[in-house]
Amino acid sequence: MVYRVQAAESLAGEIEPPGDKSISHRTAMLGGLAQGTTTVENFLHGEDTEATMNCLRSLGVEIHVEAPCPGSRGLRLIINGRGREGFREPRQVLDVRNSGTTMRMMSGVLASMPFSSVLTGDDSLIKRPMRRIIDPLRLMGAEIYGRDGDRYPPLEMRGGGLRGIEYTLPVASAQVKSAVLLAGLGAEGRTVVHQPWATRDHTERMLQAMGADISVSDNSVSIAPGPLNSLEINVPGDVSSAAAWLVLAAIHPDARIRLRNVGVNPGRIGIVHVLKSMGASVTMEERASAGAEPVADISVDSSSLSGVSIRGETIPNVIDEIPLIALAATQADGETEIRDAAELRVKESDRIATTACELRKLGADIEELPDGMIVRGPTPLNGANCESHGDHRLAMTLGVAGLLARSETIVAGHECVAVSYPGFWEDLESLRTG
Ligand code: S3P
Repeated sequence: MVYRVQAAESLAGEIEPPGDKSISHRTAMLGGLAQGTTTVENFLHGEDTEATMNCLRSLGVEIHVEAPCPGSRGLRLIINGRGREGFREPRQVLDVRNSGTTMRMMSGVLASMPFSSVLTGDDSLIKRPMRRIIDPLRLMGAEIYGRDGDRYPPLEMRGGGLRGIEYTLPVASAQVKSAVLLAGLGAEGRTVVHQPWATRDHTERMLQAMGADISVSDNSVSIAPGPLNSLEINVPGDVSSAAAWLVLAAIHPDARIRLRNVGVNPGRIGIVHVLKSMGASVTMEERASAGAEPVADISVDSSSLSGVSIRGETIPNVIDEIPLIALAATQADGETEIRDAAELRVKESDRIATTACELRKLGADIEELPDGMIVRGPTPLNGANCESHGDHRLAMTLGVAGLLARSETIVAGHECVAVSYPGFWEDLESLRTG
C-alpha cells in the first residue's frame, strides 16, 4: 500500500500525540507483576503495545481493555495483577511482532519464571541482536538460547532460580537495562546495572512509584527483589511521535504547531534540545505532571536552522528521532554531523542506510558513516517514490518530508506507522491550512 503526500503551502494546528510507547509497555508488564488492580489511562493503541498485551494474556495475566475515555486517544486498561504467581507457562509461542521492547523486556520478566517459553517476532525483529540480553540473563542463572549462536530470535527460555549480579551494559540501551532490572526483581540478592551513558529511565520511575527497593545514582541502578504495589497512571503523549510535528514546523516556511500533553522526561527530550541548538523557535509550557513523568505543551514555529554536531551522550536521548533530525538537517544551513549512533543499524531497519537512501531520493545530500551520517544543507526537496522499509519512524519522516517537497511524494509501506502512531496520516492532513 502507498500513501501520496502533496506539498502544503501553510500548516497550523494543535495535536495531542498518542500515548508514550515506552511508558505504555512498562505499565502493562509492571501492572501484571504487581499485586492488585492497576489502572492505565491513555495506553497507546498501537501494534507494539498490543503485542505486549497479547504476550501477557498468554502468560495468564488478566487485562481488560475499555473504550478510550472522552478526550483521550488511548485505551483504558484494567490489569488484575497477581504478582509473579499470576504468571503461568504459555501454551503457544509468544509473538512480539515488530516490538524489540516487548522481546527484550519480556525476556527479563520470563527469566525469573520457573517455566519454559519461546519468544519470536516478525521478519525485522528476528534479525535484531539478542546476545545483549542473553548474556546478563544467563549470568543471573536463566537458561536462555537464541538462533545462530545466540545472536538472534527466536529465544527459548527456562527461567527461575536467579541470583542478583553486578553488570555493566556493553551498549547504552534502556531495553537491556530494563530487562536486567525486571529479572532482578525476581532474583536472590541485589542486582546492580551500570550504563555507559544515561538512557530513558521510565522503568526506574515506575518501579519507584510501585514501592520497589530501587536506587539510582549517576549512571547506575540497584534493585532488590520484592513485590510491587499496583498503580494508577495516565500515560503522557509520546515525544517521539510529537517529534514529527516539531521538525515539520521548524523546517516548513509557513507553520505554527502546538503539541499538547507531551511527556518531557529529561531522558527523552533530546530532540527539543537539538532543534533549539539548530536555531528552532520552540517553547515548552510545563503542565501538572502525570505521576512520575513530567508533561508539557510544546509549540514550534517556522525557523531558520543551522547544522550541528550530535554525538556521545546525546545519542541515547535522540535515538528514535535521528531520521527526523537528518530531515531537519537537509533544510539547515551547513553541515550536520551525527556520530556514535551505530545502534541505528540494528533498529526496525538499518536506519543509517535507509534514512540516507530515502532522503537522497528526495534530493538530500547525505554521506553515510559506519556510526552515523553527515548531512549538508540546505537542499530543496523534490517528490519521489519512497519506501518505508517497514520502519515506522522512517515512514513518518518521509510523510513530513512530503509536506515540504515540491511535487508528490509516494510512501510505500506507509501502514507501518500503526506500530507507534496509528492516526499519523490523519493528523498530518489535519495540519494543512493552505
Ligand atoms: C526503548 C528504548 C530504545 C528505543 C526504543 C524504545 C524503550 O531502544 O530505541 O524505541 O522503551 O526502552 P534501546 O534501549 O535498545 O536503545
